[in-house]
Amino acid sequence: MSPTMVGTTALPLPSVRRGKVRDVYAVGDGRLLLVASDRVSAFDVVMRELVPYKGAVLTQITAWWLRQFEEEIAHHMLSVDADEIVAATPALRPHVQQLRGRAMLCRRTDVFPIECVVRGYISGSAWKEYKTSGTLAGEQLPPGLLESAPFTRPIFSPATKAETGHDENITMEQMRGVVGAADAAALETLARRLYERGRDVAASRGIIIADTKFEFGRAPDGRVLLIDEVMTPDSSRFWPADQYAPGRTQPSFDKQPLRDWLDTERRAGRWDGNAPPPTLSDAVVAATSERYLDAFRRITGAPLDTRALQ
Ligand SMILES: Nc1ncnc2c1ncn2[C@@H]1O[C@H](COP(=O)(O)OP(=O)(O)O)[C@@H](O)[C@H]1O
Ligand SMILES: [Mg+2]
Repeated sequence: MSPTMVGTTALPLPSVRRGKVRDVYAVGDGRLLLVASDRVSAFDVVMRELVPYKGAVLTQITAWWLRQFEEEIAHHMLSVDADEIVAATPALRPHVQQLRGRAMLCRRTDVFPIECVVRGYISGSAWKEYKTSGTLAGEQLPPGLLESAPFTRPIFSPATKAETGHDENITMEQMRGVVGAADAAALETLARRLYERGRDVAASRGIIIADTKFEFGRAPDGRVLLIDEVMTPDSSRFWPADQYAPGRTQPSFDKQPLRDWLDTERRAGRWDGNAPPPTLSDAVVAATSERYLDAFRRITGAPLDTRALQ
């Protein structure tokens, strides 16, 4: 049997947002249903093919971290059990198969409009800025860092949540302007602590979490909750530790087979790097699916229960 695959959903609930990969619905006044699809993007282009188990892997990795972090911080998760979710919202019953493994019912919060990025290693946009100006979000970094090198101490590197286009790195000063000094300091402390804990767990299982992004929201009772997705391959850079070497870009734990194949297509002149993407072979899709499942298995220490998703 193969798993139910989901591209876009059309659930009988008010739609709040459709992201590149997740669909968000309102459930009554105070709750949200986050549904992770099996869509995959690379080089900022969403592929047409779906990746088996990807949505479930993202949702279940998030659920696992939220439980791990429960003593540090309250979170938004109410349920990831599709039967429970459907029991609470009977209109969803005909769609239960689509929800299995990939849907999370959450407390709806007032989101702090800041992506709380923590970087343990210099990569991506941080490396780009450092290479041209020696800074990160305008603040000086030590000279002579190699690409992908670890920082002596992880760097808290907030970004705005852009409605369209790419998030923009901002300074702590700017973050204080948006959320106030007290919340800015509290979110920084939380994000650093969660990153360091998660990084250590992943490191003991062969994955370097080079950087990650947390989001926080305020619940109606005033508490700050950890929300959104948590330390998934989509919100973080996962690198295979056994292939790590500073001084170059690192292979991506989850998307490297896909990226390598797309690069080959590009070099052969069969793809210009923009949408529409080329048609993916079954082998590339299978290799990508396997990587996501492997990420889940390594992080959590047990394989994803794929039988429960058929
Ligand atoms: N508990 C929550 N309360 C309110 N908003 C949330 C909660 N959890 C996640 N969100 C929001 O849901 C949205 C999910 O969209 P997402 O799939 O990340 O789209 P994008 O591709 O634009 O990032 C984000 O804007 C996130 O802030
Ligand atoms: Mg997002």
